Amino acid sequence: MNEEQCNFFQQWAKHHILTFQEVDPLHQQSLDLKEAHTFRVCAAIARIASGLGLMENDIRIAFVTALFHDIGRFPQYQKYRTFRDLDSDNHAKLSLWELNRHRVLHTLNFAERRIISLAILFHNRLRLPENLDPQTLLHCQLIRDADKIDILRVMSEHFQMAESLRNPVITLGLGTGTQVREEVYRMLLDGRIMNYGKLKTINELKVLQMSWVFDIHFRPTFVILRERDNIGAIAATLPDTPLLREALDFVNSYIEKRLKY
Ligand SMILES: [Fe+2]
Repeated sequence: MNEEQCNFFQQWAKHHILTFQEVDPLHQQSLDLKEAHTFRVCAAIARIASGLGLMENDIRIAFVTALFHDIGRFPQYQKYRTFRDLDSDNHAKLSLWELNRHRVLHTLNFAERRIISLAILFHNRLRLPENLDPQTLLHCQLIRDADKIDILRVMSEHFQMAESLRNPVITLGLGTGTQVREEVYRMLLDGRIMNYGKLKTINELKVLQMSWVFDIHFRPTFVILRERDNIGAIAATLPDTPLLREALDFVNSYIEKRLKY
């Protein structure tokens, strides 16, 4: 992929997103959040990929993956008025459908198109399939890292806002009860990553997002995590209990450990 192609994809993405404008300001805000998320994931992935010392071409592939990973969010919201895949459609598949429909990636060679497509397809899976070839695996892990750290930022900013200004689409329509079941903390303390489907409250969603650190792959991502401390900010909005403290200590020491090597 050359620079010209990469620039074309950026312009295409910007124009394409503009075709999904909404009249209602709340709906438009939901789309604006996804647009801002997209471009921040692009910046994060470029930083992670450069931090790893990857070649120019891999940095571009990573950037374009980030640019298009959530392009399906726009038709998803237009059709279903939600970002909850369980109540609508798998947005990663919608992203690929959107790219294919407009033949966006057809100027790339087959190998590059395949890597970008698979990395988009698997970006929101709980686990990656086994037996991916090393380059595909690399790009799958890059987008998953970059996406997660930006979602953590979106969440920490969301909970710092006055309640009346918060857009409920971000918290996926979950209950506002403050309860976090012990089993949710236990999953985190076992180093396991939870499934969205099991969540009952927004506070449980926060704990799920804290557990994402166990699915972060690269050192430069841990550097960003520590630098921003969005996890600390999210944890500060949870009821202060011994289990919360234990969970936060566990997550922070895991980050420190991963930064050592
Ligand atoms: Fe996504």
